[in-house]
Parts: sequence; structure tokens; C-alpha cells
Amino acid sequence: MFKNLTNLKSEPKNYFVIFVLALMMVIPIWPAQGEYADVVLNDKAELEGVRPVIYPHWFHRIRFRCKVCHSELGFEMRVGANKIDMASIADGKFCGACHTGEVAWGLEFCDRCHSGLPGLKTGIKSGSKSSGPGYY
Ligand code: HEC
Ligand code: HEC
Ligand code: HEC
Repeated sequence: MFKNLTNLKSEPKNYFVIFVLALMMVIPIWPAQGEYADVVLNDKAELEGVRPVIYPHWFHRIRFRCKVCHSELGFEMRVGANKIDMASIADGKFCGACHTGEVAWGLEFCDRCHSGLPGLKTGIKSGSKSSGPGYY
């Protein structure tokens, strides 16, 4: 048995096995990609007296294809690039294409979107927590 271990050292094939095993231990700790995390939207929200919006990107992305939002609904793939406001949402644009009480719960649940703690800036949050008042 221990003789085999000695063999392990000298065989190039086994070096490869060790390399792959080492790689497998490293991969899970690579940081998650920011683009799949939560998006804080606070260009106007707090200025207008409501909490910042936390948009759980991952939560949505596992339910819909990218093109639903990034091509059909016209969301640009850059944080802060979309001029989203409540009037256009109520008009059925952006979040309002789905949050009508049909595809998803309606706009009367202000706190489910306006759930960020005061002071958050528009941008990416690295976690993938989805919603709920006071997560950040
Ligand atoms: C339900 C709608 C929706 C779906 C589905 C969706 N996204 Fe997004 N995505 C958004 C919104 C909203 C933003 C933030 C835009 C903003 O801040 O103005 C965003 C932002 C992004 C960004 C910018 C992140 C950054 O770092 O600037 C990337 C990249 C992105 N999405 C990629 C994807 C990919 C890839 C998929 C599919 C696997 C996808 N999205 C699916 C709505 C969606
Ligand atoms: C489906 C998600 C969602 C819901 C539900 C929602 N909002 Fe918004 N709201 C947004 C987004 C996204 C913005 C743009 C945030 C930003 O960039 O500052 C916004 C912006 C606002 C603003 C800033 C000014 C403006 O006109 O855009 C106010 C005020 C506001 N919302 C009030 C409300 C109130 C009150 C409710 C409940 C009756 C509500 N919102 C429900 C997503 C939502
Ligand atoms: C393509 C359709 C679609 C669009 C566009 C969309 N949503 Fe959603 N959203 C959903 C669905 C479906 C759910 C799940 C509803 C349920 O669980 O009943 C959801 C759930 C959520 C949740 C709750 C997540 C949780 O953990 O339960 C939040 C917060 C949310 N959306 C915010 C937003 C905001 C803010 C926008 C715009 C920036 C937006 N959504 C745009 C379809 C959409």
C-alpha cells in the first residue's frame, strides 16, 4: 500500500490527478460573480422619502431567461443605467411588466421592493439575499 504512495510521486499521470483534486478544492471558494447578486436602486427613492430598492437579481434570473428583461423589457445590463421611476412602473414598464398581481405580486406591496436600509448607494451587493426590510 505504501509502496503505491511512492509510485504516486513519480508517475506524471498521478501528478495530474493531484492537480485536479487540488483544483476541485480551490474552485468552490472563488468569489461569486457580482452580476448575479442583489442590485440596490436608489437614484431617487430615498430623496423622495421611501427606502432604497433592493432588486434580487439572482432570484429573478433563475426564473426567467436573460432576454426577457435585457431585451424584451429593455433593461440595460448595467447597474444604474436604467432610469426607472414609479410612474413608468405603474405604466407597466420595468418591474411593472410583471409586478401587477398576475405574474408576480402587485405594486401595493411597497416594502417588498423598498426594503433597503437608508443610506445605500445604487450598485451591486455581493450577497444573493433576496428580499425583506432591513437586509442591508
Ligand atoms: C427579471 C428581470 C431580469 C432578468 C431575468 C435578468 N436580469 Fe440582469 N438585470 C436586471 C436589472 C433590473 C438589472 C439592474 C439594472 C439597473 O441597475 O438599472 C440587471 C443588471 C444586470 C447586469 C449588470 C450588473 C453589473 O454589474 O453592472 C448584468 C451583467 C446582468 N443583469 C446580466 C444578466 C444575465 C446574464 C441574465 C440571465 C442569466 C439576467 N441578467 C437576467 C434584470 C434582469
Ligand atoms: C416591484 C417593485 C416596486 C414596488 C412594489 C414599489 N416600488 Fe417604488 N420604486 C421601485 C423602483 C425600482 C424605483 C426606482 C428607484 C431608484 O432608482 O431610486 C422606485 C421609486 C420610487 C419612488 C421615487 C420617486 C419616483 O417617482 O420614482 C417613490 C416615491 C416610490 N418608488 C414609492 C413607492 C410606493 C409608495 C410604493 C407602494 C405603493 C412603491 N413605490 C412600490 C420599485 C418598486
Ligand atoms: C419578468 C418578470 C419580472 C420582472 C421584470 C420583475 N420581477 Fe420581481 N418577481 C417576479 C416574480 C415571478 C417574483 C416571485 C413572485 C412570488 O414569489 O410570488 C418576483 C419577486 C420579487 C421580489 C421578492 C423576492 C423574494 O425573495 O421573494 C422582489 C423584491 C422583486 N421581485 C423586486 C423586483 C424589482 C425591484 C423589479 C424591477 C427592477 C422586478 N422585481 C422586476 C417577476 C418579475
